[in-house]
Amino acid sequence: MNWRNVNKLSEGVYWVGARDWNRRLFDALIPLPKGTSYNAYLVVGEEKKALIDTVNPGFETELEEKIRKIMDPAEIDYLVMNHAEPDHAGAIPFVTGLSDKARLVATEKGVKMSQVFYNVPGEKAKAVRDGETIDLGGKTLRFIEAPMLHWPETMFTYLEEDGILFPCDFFGSHLAKATYDDEVEDLLVDAQRYWGEIMMPFSGMAKRSLDKIKDLKINMIAPSHGPIYRSPQRIRNAYSKWANGETKQKAIIIYVSMWKSTEKMVQVMSDTLSSEGIEIALYNLASSDLGDLAKDLVDSRAIVLGAPTVLGGAHPLAVYATYLVKALKPPLKYAAVLSSYGWGGVVSRQVQETLGSSKIEIIGALEVNGPPKEGDISRIVELGRALAGKIKAG
Ligand SMILES: Cc1cc2nc3c(=O)[nH]c(=O)nc-3n(C[C@H](O)[C@H](O)[C@H](O)COP(=O)(O)O)c2cc1C
Ligand SMILES: [Fe+2]
Ligand SMILES: [Fe+2]
Repeated sequence: MNWRNVNKLSEGVYWVGARDWNRRLFDALIPLPKGTSYNAYLVVGEEKKALIDTVNPGFETELEEKIRKIMDPAEIDYLVMNHAEPDHAGAIPFVTGLSDKARLVATEKGVKMSQVFYNVPGEKAKAVRDGETIDLGGKTLRFIEAPMLHWPETMFTYLEEDGILFPCDFFGSHLAKATYDDEVEDLLVDAQRYWGEIMMPFSGMAKRSLDKIKDLKINMIAPSHGPIYRSPQRIRNAYSKWANGETKQKAIIIYVSMWKSTEKMVQVMSDTLSSEGIEIALYNLASSDLGDLAKDLVDSRAIVLGAPTVLGGAHPLAVYATYLVKALKPPLKYAAVLSSYGWGGVVSRQVQETLGSSKIEIIGALEVNGPPKEGDISRIVELGRALAGKIKAG
C-alpha cells in the first residue's frame, strides 16, 4: 500500500516533497529547531511532465513513492534544477535513474554544476536562458535567472497558467510542519530567521530579483523549504523591506562573559537603551541559537558587542560572532564595544579591525579593568545615551 501523502496545489500541480522533522543542523552551522522540508513539485501538462527540484539525500524513496501516487516516474520529461545544492538536487542521479528520457533543465551555470556535483552527462541536460519557456501542454514553465539566491546558478521557475512561482530557497523557511502559510500563526518570524541566515548576505541580488518579478501575477509562492504561500503579498512585502535593509529603533546586544564583569557592563547598556525607548534583543553567546541572532540582525539598527579579554584577544566566542556578523552583512549602522580585561585590554582594537571594512560606524568602545566601577558605569550610561540618539536619528 502506498500510504504517502501528496498535496494538490492546483490542477496538475502537486507537492511531492519530504518533511525532515528530525533535522537539527543545516550546513553544519545553522540550528533547525523546527526541522525543515525539501519541497519538490510535479507539474503534469497534457503532453509533458516536469519535476521541479528534488529532495535531500536519504529521502529518494519517499520522493519516488509520492511521484508514483500521481504517475509513473519513467514518464518524467523534464527535471528542473532551480539550484544545485544537495538539499534540492541531491536526488537527481536517483530520478534520472528512474526515467531514461528525463532531461535536466537548469541555467548554463546550473548545467555545469550538475556535471560537477551529480555527473549529469551534457547530452542529458538543457541549459535555459533568462525568460525562456518550456511548454508542457497547457502548462508553461518560464525560467527566471536569480543568481546568488542562493548560489550563482540559481533560477526561479514560474508556471504561467496557474501563476505559481517556484523560487527554490528564496521565500523559504525552515519548518517541517504545515503545507500552507495560513496554517502557521507566526510564519513571518520563521521566514525572517531564514532570511537572516541565508538570504541577508545577498540583499543586493535579492532586490534585483524582486524587481524582476514585481509585475508577475503570483497567486502562489511554492518555495523549496517550508510552507507554500497561497496569500503571497505578506511575504513579498516583508522581503522587499528586508532586501532594502529597513531597520527599526532596535539594538542587538551580543555578549559573552566568564566572571560577569562584561555581563554587568552589558546590563547597564541594555537598561540605558531600554530607558531611551530602544527595542532590545540580547544574546549570551554561551547559550544562544545562531538562528535567533540572525533573525534579530535583520532589522536591528545597532549592535553592542560585549567580550572579555582571553589569551591576548577577545573571547573566542565573540571572535566567532563578530566574524559571522560581518559575513551575514546585516543592515546595521552603528556599533558599540564593551569589554573587561585583567591586565591589558585589546578587545576594542580587535573588534574594530574585524568590523573596520564594513559600513558599521563604531560609536564607542569601553574597556574596563576587572569589574566595572561607578565611573565606568557612568561612562556606559553616557555611551548608551549617545548610541540611542544615533539609533533614533535613523
Ligand atoms: C582563560 C582566561 C584568559 C585570560 N586572558 C587574559 C588576557 O590575555 N589578557 C587580559 O588582560 N586578561 C585576561 N584574562 C582576564 C579577564 O579578561 C578578566 O578577568 C575579565 O575581567 C573577565 O571579564 P568577564 O567577567 O566578563 O569574564 C583572562 C581570563 C581567563 C579566565
Ligand atoms: Fe541553498
Ligand atoms: Fe535549500
